[in-house]
Amino acid sequence: MTKAKISILLSGRGSNMAALLYAAKHPDCPFEIVLVTGDKPDAPGLTLAEAEGVTVVRMPAYSPKDKSQFYAALDAQIRKSGADTIALAGYMRIIPPDFVEKWQGRMLNIHPSLLPKYKGLDTHERALADGEKVTGCSVHLVTAELDDGAVLGQTEVVIILGDSPETLAARVLIAEHQLYPRVLADFVSREARPDWILDQLRLHALQLPATEERTSHGSPGFAIQGGKFFAMFTHQHHNDGITALLVKTSGEEEQAMLIEQDDDLYYRPQYYGPAGWIGIRL
Ligand code: GRF
Repeated sequence: MTKAKISILLSGRGSNMAALLYAAKHPDCPFEIVLVTGDKPDAPGLTLAEAEGVTVVRMPAYSPKDKSQFYAALDAQIRKSGADTIALAGYMRIIPPDFVEKWQGRMLNIHPSLLPKYKGLDTHERALADGEKVTGCSVHLVTAELDDGAVLGQTEVVIILGDSPETLAARVLIAEHQLYPRVLADFVSREARPDWILDQLRLHALQLPATEERTSHGSPGFAIQGGKFFAMFTHQHHNDGITALLVKTSGEEEQAMLIEQDDDLYYRPQYYGPAGWIGIRL
């Protein structure tokens, strides 16, 4: 199995980093930790990661006047590690937009509330002050707006009469340690999942002018509004083991030419093939 390569950024004790690191020790975990670093060279989390044999880079202590150099150096270290995804685990700084942009869609964070509720700090104090019955934690994609990106997973945690911010934080932390490895594993495996692939197709297809989604023989497809289909999504059609996009060609000649060009990518689909459709394996 090729594993996703994760770089973790932290500022403190690193218990979420530890949860990810111990999850990654299992052979069937789809990710590995290739780097642990952060903004505080003496963060206890770095010492733990080092002791566990993970590559640690102790960046020079962050100072606001060197912000752009700091993030340029951080980016260079992460790229050098070969990481494809960043997991923030108690990284207590707001990340500048140009860094976020470089890692857009590939940087996750864990936050101790049920987002969109209680963004920012002191989440447990605020939940208790509001008399909430339930709080929890969320893993979300990082965007330039604080704690605002798409939520990828959440766990609810009940609030007990007499809870203090500390007792509540301790219980939410247990939930965090369960949630983060699970959501990260799902996230890095997304490209192999048919539902994710179909979502991506939708995103692209529905951007085309006058296009609508309809089903044909139970398969999702894309058609000119009120008109003909031009693309179909197929997954395990009659258990053929294939996930593919079917698109209409100009006819048999083009179909044959494409298959000759690359028969790993293109194939002649059952039923649709004779009508001039080509299969593109996804
Ligand atoms: C966690 O509560 C996390 O949700 C928040 O910061 C805390 C970090 O704790 N972002 P740890 O360093 O992972 O123990």
